[in-house]
Amino acid sequence: MSDKFKIAVFSSGNGSNFESIVTSKIPNVEVSLMLCNMPNAYVVERAKKLSVETIIVSHKDFGSRKDFEKEIISKLEKYNLDLIVLAGFKRILSPFFTAHYDKKVINLHPSLLPSFTGLHAPKQALEYGTKFSGCTVHFVDDGIDTGPIIAQGLVTVEDSDTEESLTEKIHEKEHEILPFAIRLLSEDKVSVEGRRVLIKN
Ligand code: GAR
Repeated sequence: MSDKFKIAVFSSGNGSNFESIVTSKIPNVEVSLMLCNMPNAYVVERAKKLSVETIIVSHKDFGSRKDFEKEIISKLEKYNLDLIVLAGFKRILSPFFTAHYDKKVINLHPSLLPSFTGLHAPKQALEYGTKFSGCTVHFVDDGIDTGPIIAQGLVTVEDSDTEESLTEKIHEKEHEILPFAIRLLSEDKVSVEGRRVLIKN
């Protein structure tokens, strides 16, 4: 039996973070599968190129969120996953799903939470006029972008930045921070006390 730390990456779109996780080759971490809810998303091509097993579950095939989530849970059961990583997954997962994978679901968000939750976070930061922005990896709880924070990365907002350039800078930072957070979890260095995530040396 393998003692690898097994993860699934959920993505709906481009998949640059999925690719960064795979190419980071985090010691002792196995990317068991990539799950996508959009059959035509570019991440599907990436998974093929990187030889990572792909599972497609289109939310459009289900009458309710719960049925969609039940299907995902049943498809994942055999993999004995240690962690589910939401990296650009454009569906909200309900408490039904997160309770099933209690404390085993993390999300990547393109802002310094708790600022700018929800959609278009880089645009929100620019419009607000913050001088710094960044990205956050957090545990998923019952709220939207509200769970305990595991890691954050900072980028500077320049006067010349546009939504595109800021998004690009945040992406580069995400490609460092997300594999770093997965590594901490895989090494069992993370504990949660209330809202605070403590990291062992
Ligand atoms: C990432 O920037 C991630 O932070 C964001 O989607 C992008 C996916 O990029 N997630 C959210 O906005 C979640 N609220 P990718 O498909 O290239 O990895």
